Amino acid sequence: NGDEQQDQDYLFKIVMIGDSAVGKSNLLARFARNEFYPNSKSTIGVEFQTQKMQIDGKEIKAQIWDTAGQERFRAVTSAYYRGAVGALVVYDICRRQTFDSIGRWLNELHTHSDMNVVIILVGNKTDLKDAREVGTAEGKALAEAQGLFFIETSALDDSNVAAAFQTLVKEIY
Ligand code: GTP
Ligand code: MG
Repeated sequence: NGDEQQDQDYLFKIVMIGDSAVGKSNLLARFARNEFYPNSKSTIGVEFQTQKMQIDGKEIKAQIWDTAGQERFRAVTSAYYRGAVGALVVYDICRRQTFDSIGRWLNELHTHSDMNVVIILVGNKTDLKDAREVGTAEGKALAEAQGLFFIETSALDDSNVAAAFQTLVKEIY
């Protein structure tokens, strides 16, 4: 019927990337199922979730792909990125090393996807205030320099998780 036809018009593929254990899978679990796993294992291969979203009164389906941060567990890179119109590039605000990796993730993304893919830089784990190693201003500055959107989140306490995905999808749309 007409509704189904309209759904088909707005199917966005979104990829999640970033170092291992930054919280990609938990951000997706929180967003799609309102779940959180304190002891989640590394992702192996690729998983994805399709999530319906309302943007400006239109129904949009976001197909969100999640893969392993560790090279040895990753799926075929070109297939992962193929057709992506948006990306969440995630780091852990408590591990500077994961922030230092962002440049490499952006390189890979740009090598394998469309030039005008919309990107949001996500600093996750804001609940761990005392362990913070990367300041909000630093994240913001990197995002500005690279032309990315920026947000800080916590999958644990559900802070800004939906906002991260919604900001991205809104900009794609
Ligand atoms: P790979 O699949 O290996 O690439 O890792 P990932 O980025 O998917 O990380 P994952 O979601 O599996 O989370 C790694 C660990 O961080 C788990 O122990 C999670 O419980 C924890 N974690 C994820 N998000 C948060 C958060 O916002 N706050 C806190 N405190 N812990 C988090
Ligand atoms: Mg994972």
